[in-house]
Amino acid sequence: MPRDNRAWLGRATRWLVTEAGVRQIIDVGSGLPTSSNIHDFAQRVAPETKVVYVDNDPIVLAHGRAILAANEHTTVVTADVRDVDSIFSDSRLREYVDFDQPFAVFLASVLHHLPKGEDQRVAAEIRDRLTPGSYLAITNFHDPGGDPRTAAIEEIFTRSPMGSGWFRPYPQHRMYLGDLELVPPGLCPINEWRPDEDTPTDASSHHLYVGGIGYRPTT
Ligand SMILES: C[S@@+](CC[C@H](N)C(=O)[O-])C[C@H]1O[C@@H](n2cnc3c(N)ncnc32)[C@H](O)[C@@H]1O
Repeated sequence: MPRDNRAWLGRATRWLVTEAGVRQIIDVGSGLPTSSNIHDFAQRVAPETKVVYVDNDPIVLAHGRAILAANEHTTVVTADVRDVDSIFSDSRLREYVDFDQPFAVFLASVLHHLPKGEDQRVAAEIRDRLTPGSYLAITNFHDPGGDPRTAAIEEIFTRSPMGSGWFRPYPQHRMYLGDLELVPPGLCPINEWRPDEDTPTDASSHHLYVGGIGYRPTT
């Protein structure tokens, strides 16, 4: 599942940069920006693309800044996704992202760590911040109903340093994107979202992860 999620991040980033012309990306709940991360995918296509990684784990800041020392278009900011105001008013982030221009926000595998209610509030606050022409890209654990592995994995996550990892039914994922237009093929199992020749479509975990991109139209 983590491999499928990472591959989705690559396909989604390539689509945003190549097809949608996005040149500013904020990745919230990024984890450590190691190789094959969003800035690699984006800057391979358009080297000038600005990428800001945001995470509340101070280790991400410490290692991330070291890893990215030579990359003038990419930075790391420490902030909590639950405090959307602090993310969007962060002075370092604002050096990289011009909110008068369209941008993309990734919330990849982070909303499923937030308790019920908080997840929808955060998604709504971020949607409200999207300049026309901007995008919100999400992936999350999905509860398709009737799969006992979801409860087992939730139990593992609850005992892990993450402390949580909730599988939620489809309508809740759809609400994260609210009134945004869905980029085809919509919100779906991540391996069905613009698969390439390397995307497996027969994994037994196929329906346990959904992802999609919403668009804030310009008119
Ligand atoms: C499962 S990882 C996902 C990493 C990456 N986005 C991906 O899709 O591979 C979840 C990340 O969210 C971060 N995170 C969890 N709760 C957070 C919060 N309240 N604010 C900011 N980041 C958070 C964790 O530190 C971790 O790096």
